[in-house]
Amino acid sequence: MTSAALRIEDVAPDFEAETQLGHFKFSEYAQGSWVVFFSHPRDFTPVCTTELARAAQLQPEFAKRGVKMLAVSCDDVESHRGWIPDVDAYGHTKVQYPIVADADRRVARMYNMLPAEQSGAPMPVTVRSVFFIDDQRRIRAMITYPPAVGRNFDEILRVVDALQTSTRLGVATPVDWRRGDEVIVPLAVSDEKVKQNFPSGLQVVDLPSQKPYLRTGKYAG
Ligand code: BEZ
Repeated sequence: MTSAALRIEDVAPDFEAETQLGHFKFSEYAQGSWVVFFSHPRDFTPVCTTELARAAQLQPEFAKRGVKMLAVSCDDVESHRGWIPDVDAYGHTKVQYPIVADADRRVARMYNMLPAEQSGAPMPVTVRSVFFIDDQRRIRAMITYPPAVGRNFDEILRVVDALQTSTRLGVATPVDWRRGDEVIVPLAVSDEKVKQNFPSGLQVVDLPSQKPYLRTGKYAG
């Protein structure tokens, strides 16, 4: 059995583990920062190698947004240390974020990163989970892909931008939104906040219902 599924707004569970950079305590690492925590099935596997390399290439972009990266893979520290040079060579980059060693699947179980029980697999490997964790250690978003499908780390960065923008301005982001695009301003946002954050005003989309619920604006700053 796995633990109860984590939900958006749950506090991200604390844990201690070994990483290729040394002993690690999640709550200390996460203190005051956003964290993107992503799982990988195994070391020395092709999709994982491409993903870890892309994550390393984008690490400066995540850092600009106050986001620390954290990976976990179902192998031990020695294996991680042996694998990282492959990742660095593949991506012409340098992995600098910690990769949790989770040979016993303790962290994977805690974060519900394992697939439904596989018959004949006493040690299942993690799927590709991503947890977006804010600076109060709350889980703000999650995505989950199967092992055979590599994630898009530009999308992960886009979700960070959307979460941080919606939190800062009390707004929502429409389909396919990217940083700098217009946002949706809920009716609950006060006129004073609209004036402060949307100096060029809002547009209310004319809909057949004539209800003014879809209003958008270009935010300042
Ligand atoms: C991979 O990273 O290539 C991979 C790992 C586990 C299952 C399938 C693919």
